[in-house]
Amino acid sequence: MGLTLEINGETVVVDADVDMPLLWYLRDILKLTGTKYGCGAGLCGACTVHVDGRATRSCVIPVAAVEGKKITTIEGLSGAGDHPLQRSWQTLGVPQCGYCQPGQIMSAAALLASNPNPTDADIDGAMSGNICRCGTYPRIRAAIHRAAGEQAE
Ligand code: FES
Ligand code: FES
Repeated sequence: MGLTLEINGETVVVDADVDMPLLWYLRDILKLTGTKYGCGAGLCGACTVHVDGRATRSCVIPVAAVEGKKITTIEGLSGAGDHPLQRSWQTLGVPQCGYCQPGQIMSAAALLASNPNPTDADIDGAMSGNICRCGTYPRIRAAIHRAAGEQAE
């Protein structure tokens, strides 16, 4: 028997080892490669997706643990890549190498969904688990504020 998951609004049946980390399932089987592998140990945030709206490290959660939950990846965050955060990221030129950025955006999206007008401290707290080796943190913070302002208009 497979597991039934809802990923980016579509129902999929998981025909894989139920202990497989969700990240491998997304990347290797569904080819949703926007979600990145960094540490594989829940420490860097590169693999962040939403599970029922919560920012979740997909490298350390098995597919069996997300059965019946709504999973959103960077590919499903918005219909046309036009979430306010994605627009702000582009406008402010946030990425450097880009590797960490899908995870950064997914964590930021979960933050704005629960806190539409975050302070710097709120942002730093929510984003503290997302590592950027390129040090784009100031631009990430600015882009989150910009997106929050856009959402409020
Ligand atoms: S790859 Fe999942 S937290 Fe680093
Ligand atoms: S943009 Fe390079 S690791 Fe974040």
